Amino acid sequence: MKIIERLDLGEYVTFKPNRDLPRHRWFYFKEGFSRDLVIYLLKKFKVDEDMWVLDPFMGVGTTPLSCREYGVNTIGVEISPLFKLIAQSKIEDYDVEKIKDYYRYVKDYKERIDLGGVPPLLKRGFTKANLIDILKARRAIEGISEEKYRNLFYVALLSAANKSTLFIKDGSKLRPRRNRNIPPFREMFSRTIKNFIRDIEETELKNVSYYLYQGDARNLSMIDDESIDIVITSPPYLNKIEYTVVYEMEYLLLYGDKNINPIRSYIGLTYSRRDVLKLSNLDIKEMPPAALAYFNDMYQVLGELYRVLRRGGKAALVVGQGIFPDRVIKSDRILARIARKIGFKVGDIWIVNKRIAVRDRTIKIGVAEESIIFLYK
Ligand SMILES: C[S@@+](CC[C@H](N)C(=O)[O-])C[C@H]1O[C@@H](n2cnc3c(N)ncnc32)[C@H](O)[C@@H]1O
Repeated sequence: MKIIERLDLGEYVTFKPNRDLPRHRWFYFKEGFSRDLVIYLLKKFKVDEDMWVLDPFMGVGTTPLSCREYGVNTIGVEISPLFKLIAQSKIEDYDVEKIKDYYRYVKDYKERIDLGGVPPLLKRGFTKANLIDILKARRAIEGISEEKYRNLFYVALLSAANKSTLFIKDGSKLRPRRNRNIPPFREMFSRTIKNFIRDIEETELKNVSYYLYQGDARNLSMIDDESIDIVITSPPYLNKIEYTVVYEMEYLLLYGDKNINPIRSYIGLTYSRRDVLKLSNLDIKEMPPAALAYFNDMYQVLGELYRVLRRGGKAALVVGQGIFPDRVIKSDRILARIARKIGFKVGDIWIVNKRIAVRDRTIKIGVAEESIIFLYK
């Protein structure tokens, strides 16, 4: 195993390059990586069209969509119903004439909206006029009988709502926008649908097999043993789970008050004494509980990846190190050790980003890196 600096790939592990790409840009997901990274790795791994590529933490579907663009079969798994719905919508084929018909129906839909039971966060998140239009659109979309088109319109609603909200996503929280010049939702929605149609017409998706599941990466029972050739993925980073808060508005818009947020199944949240024992011969006993929980969950995930990968299969994991008040925990090195214990051959670790981690804005804790770990079965 060699540790190699590849800071030239720094931007590839962010979502930024996707901002201008058809379909990928339908929902901005700060925690995602880029199509460029996936294509780079598909080429590096020399995939061909008969292979299967898995992303067990697919988020909004960058890996599966890139695989469909490239021409290789793909499977994605994601715990959040919201992100799974977005990923599924981005990867499907559509009849553009149907989208236009449904848009006319949604635009002309009339119903009186009562703001009585609307969650306070939504009331604070939009002007009254925008909120009424958003809820009216949502009601109309609920009536679209074809699931695929219904979900596409939900994604358009979220995308347009994000442009007409009074909040901005700021790291781990929502904060009020300074510029109160908020565009009308109706206009944003119409523009979004037009952009979606253009993107659908522009992207060439290959005729490959693709299956996306809402599920837990710690239990990939929907995937057969030794059936996967390549894994490209990025698990949640150690000690960073704020996206459940940042996307609360989207959850409320799609699922109302139903408590659908899958936070409890997120990896890295709970641990028990037994877990510590299982990991104890890795000599990481002195870790904070959050780190133990994280590595224990990743132990299960890596075990599942080992099971589903064929002999000769390869995996690339994009991970970030864990920042705690008193130290930076080098998750990449620890995950590599866990992988080796499971049976993987550990290849190189590429450091793709480095930054100084600070506490209370000024106190330096250490250097936190993002890296890509290569594993082979
Ligand atoms: C770093 S993001 C991956 C982003 C993805 N590469 C993209 O471009 O959209 C990690 C994802 O793992 C998901 N996740 C967290 N716990 C999970 C679990 N137990 N099983 C499956 N997915 C999980 C989170 O919801 C999040 O979408």
